[in-house]
Amino acid sequence: MEKKIVVLPGDGIGKEVVDEGIKVLDTVAELFGHQFKYEEDVIGGAALDQFGIPLREETLEKCQQADAVLLGAVGGPKWDTLPGHLRPEKALLGLRKGLGLFANLRPVEVFGPVVESSTLKREVVEGVDVLVVRELTGGIYFGLKDRGEYDSGEAWAKDECIYSVEEVRRIAKVAFEAARGRRKKVTSVDKANVLETSRLWREVIQEVHQEYPDIELEHMLVDNAAMQLVRQPKQFDVLVTENMFGDILSDEASVLAGSIGLMPSASLADAGGLGMYEPVHGTAPDIAGQGKANPLATILSCAMLLRYSFGLEQEADVIETAVKSALEQGWRTPDLVLSQDDPKSVLGTTEITNKII
Ligand code: NAI
Ligand code: MG
Repeated sequence: MEKKIVVLPGDGIGKEVVDEGIKVLDTVAELFGHQFKYEEDVIGGAALDQFGIPLREETLEKCQQADAVLLGAVGGPKWDTLPGHLRPEKALLGLRKGLGLFANLRPVEVFGPVVESSTLKREVVEGVDVLVVRELTGGIYFGLKDRGEYDSGEAWAKDECIYSVEEVRRIAKVAFEAARGRRKKVTSVDKANVLETSRLWREVIQEVHQEYPDIELEHMLVDNAAMQLVRQPKQFDVLVTENMFGDILSDEASVLAGSIGLMPSASLADAGGLGMYEPVHGTAPDIAGQGKANPLATILSCAMLLRYSFGLEQEADVIETAVKSALEQGWRTPDLVLSQDDPKSVLGTTEITNKII
C-alpha cells in the first residue's frame, strides 16, 4: 500500500514525539511491505515564527491532498501574549474546519501495568476500555456569538447551539460502527430533559440505531455521565456526545489512564479516509528539549491512523500490542514511574520507542 502522510510536528515536545511515531510507522511499513511518504510542514508557533501566521493556506491544501495527517501539538509561553487570531491554537481550529473533521475519537484504555499511576482505585480503573466519540464541528462552539445591552443598560452575551439532523446522523454512524468492532454498546450522552438540540440528538440517534440492531443503545444525561465516568467507568464501551459535552467528558475520561502521555486521538472527516491523528497532550514546555517526553500517545495515534485512514487493522494491532508489551516488561518514561519501579527501567523518548520497535 502506498500512502501520503502530512506531518505537522508543531511546537515543544510535538517534534520529539512525532519523530518517534514516524520511526514506528516506518517499522510497520517495512514489516508489512507498505510505502508511507511523509511531507513535513510547520504550524502553530513554528509557523508564526517563520511566516507570521499559525496556519498557511498551502499547509491546509497539502493536508487536503494527503491520505492522513499526523500532528504533534502547538503553542507555548513564547506565543501566549499574541492576540486571539494569531494564537497557535488557531491552527488546530483551521485544520478541523478546513478538513471537515467532524468526529473526534479518544480511546481511554487503562493498560494493566500502569494502573497504579491512576488517581482512582485499582478496582475502579483496571480493565477500563472506553471510546469517547465527540462531535467536533457543530453545536455551541460554532454557533452565533453575540453581545448586546438591555434597555436597562445591563449587558448580555449569547452563544447559539444548533445541530442539524445530518450532523447528528453522521456522528451516530461513527459511534455505532466503532461499537461493532468492540463490545457492541453505545451510550449516547445528552441533556434531553432541558435542551431542544438534545431532544433532536436523541431522536436521530434512535433512528440511526434501527440500522444497528446488533448494538445495544442507552441514553444518559450528561450530568449523570460525568459522575458515572469516575464512579463506574467500566460500564462504558462507546460514549457518543455533542461538541461541548464531549470536550469536557473526554478530558475527564482521559485522567482514568494515569498519564496524559498515553492518550491518543483521531479526528475523522466525512468523505473517505482522511483523518488527523494527534496525542491529546500539549507541547509540555516544562519538559521540552530534555528527551523525556512520553511518545506512547503519539505512537498509539499512529496505530489509529493505520486503522481508520488506511484500514490496516492488523498493522494497528501490532503497534498496540508492542506498546502494551513494552509496559508489561516494565519500561517507563518519567511521567509513568511508579514508586516500586526499578530506576533502570526509566527510559527517554527515543529509548522507549526503540523497545517498542
Ligand atoms: P500539556 O499537555 O502540554 O502539559 C501538561 C502536563 O503534562 C505537563 O506537566 C507536561 O510536562 C505533562 N505532559 C504532557 N505531555 C506529556 C508527555 N507526552 N510526556 C510526559 N509528560 C507530558 O498542557 P499545558 O501545560 O496546559 O499546555 C502547554 C502548552 O501546550 C500550552 O501552550 C497549550 O496551549 C498547549 N496545548 C496544546 C494542545 C494541542 O496542540 N493539541 C493541547 C493542550 C495544550
Ligand atoms: Mg478540551
